[in-house]
Amino acid sequence: MSYSAYVFDAYGTLFDVHAAVRRHAEAVGPDGPLLSDIWRTKQLEYSWVRSLMGRYKDFWQLTEDALDYAFDKVPGADRSSREQLLDAYRRLDTYPEVVRVLRALKDRGMRLAVLSNGSPEMLASAVASNGLDTLLDDVFSVDELRTYKTDERVYEMVTTRYRIFPEAVSFQSSNRFDVAGASAYGFRTVWINRSGLPDEYKDLPPAAVLNSLDGVLALA
Ligand code: LAC
Repeated sequence: MSYSAYVFDAYGTLFDVHAAVRRHAEAVGPDGPLLSDIWRTKQLEYSWVRSLMGRYKDFWQLTEDALDYAFDKVPGADRSSREQLLDAYRRLDTYPEVVRVLRALKDRGMRLAVLSNGSPEMLASAVASNGLDTLLDDVFSVDELRTYKTDERVYEMVTTRYRIFPEAVSFQSSNRFDVAGASAYGFRTVWINRSGLPDEYKDLPPAAVLNSLDGVLALA
């Protein structure tokens, strides 16, 4: 099977969401890893709750709200690092294999896109700061829909724009909830389980599980 498009989730899949705190580990202090975990967990929770309520705020605002909550929850973390952390989040590092894998797919003539909860501005910034703009054909943001994953309209943006069937898309995500949503929509899904997490959403399984994006090329 050859796919009409390889579509990638952004945060956690291409961009390391813990890279911001790691970059400023000294300024944040020893509670950095805890702060980073709460920051990410709350950012996602806000996306689901606001989608259910129909009260959209863009992902950058959710990122700020979640960081403020994390600082409240972790008083040991140094709040004076807030602006540094947000600035680093706009320019998150990619995981080490990302550029190599995207380039290899591009060299084989594949169409490559990102499909993300991120606001257009934060995605453009993270993509450009890592030089991914020359490799990606499109960056799809939920912002035009004013809702978040796993609303099926999010996944539908890709098939509508490319005029293809869902099964012609190979979708890669590290976020298991996102894999569930994409599988429900009909994409061929690849769960990039970087840290060996247990499986969940077992009625909506991935077609394949890898521990990094490296194996995507080898999949049929
Ligand atoms: C995204 C979220 C899932 O990039 O991190 O869509």
